Amino acid sequence: MNRGYFITFEGGDGSGKSTQIRILMDRLRESGYDVVLTREPGGTEISEKIREIILDPANSDMDDMTEALLYAAARAQLVSQLIKPALEEGKVVICDRFVDSSIAYQGFGRGLGDAVGVINTYAVDGCMPDLTILLKLDPARGSSRIAGREHDRIEQASDGFHRKVYEGYLELEAKYPERILGIDASGTIEEIAEEIARRVGAIMK
Ligand SMILES: Nc1ncnc2c1ncn2[C@@H]1O[C@H](COP(=O)(O)OP(=O)(O)OP(=O)(O)O)[C@@H](O)[C@H]1O
Ligand SMILES: [Mg+2]
Repeated sequence: MNRGYFITFEGGDGSGKSTQIRILMDRLRESGYDVVLTREPGGTEISEKIREIILDPANSDMDDMTEALLYAAARAQLVSQLIKPALEEGKVVICDRFVDSSIAYQGFGRGLGDAVGVINTYAVDGCMPDLTILLKLDPARGSSRIAGREHDRIEQASDGFHRKVYEGYLELEAKYPERILGIDASGTIEEIAEEIARRVGAIMK
């Protein structure tokens, strides 16, 4: 199939996704790959508008299912408008969070369970990552890394919520070992970057 390569980054808030994505993107570009970087929720004009609704701390009374459907709506737009076309052009697409975030945050964290996977079958429309890098960090350490920042509506959720999200990620890692590479994110930025580069290099050749 004449197709690019789709990599997603997952992990709790403050686990180092954005930091590691920047490093990997630079390395891949230096090696000559055409890399498209995007993020969730967002990445297209419509999806960024949905992002504002989802993350606005003023929307504290948002229903959990509304939240899950908004994430899926933003994702459907991103997949059809940006990810699929880029992959068809043979590009490497790196996405900061994707469908596993919905399963972990809305399925496990909010307790919506399997409904989240069902909704997202339509949103991703068969476009699943070739590789998902899961940065595993105790949620208490993640939240202390981002303590100085202003927190969005999801980051403001309770410690118990973030603990459930973390456990959800561990279940996903166990369920999809061929796709999800779990990495201990408690090391230094350089150590983690080396491990990611090694594993991405081995898979992409
Ligand atoms: N391995 C590391 N050790 C210590 N600090 C780190 C490490 N990786 C990233 N950081 C720092 O932790 C903070 C959070 O990192 P980063 O923004 O990359 O996480 P994130 O997973 O993208 O967070 P968010 O989910 O909020 O977007 C930043 O200040 C970053 O510099
Ligand atoms: Mg980030």
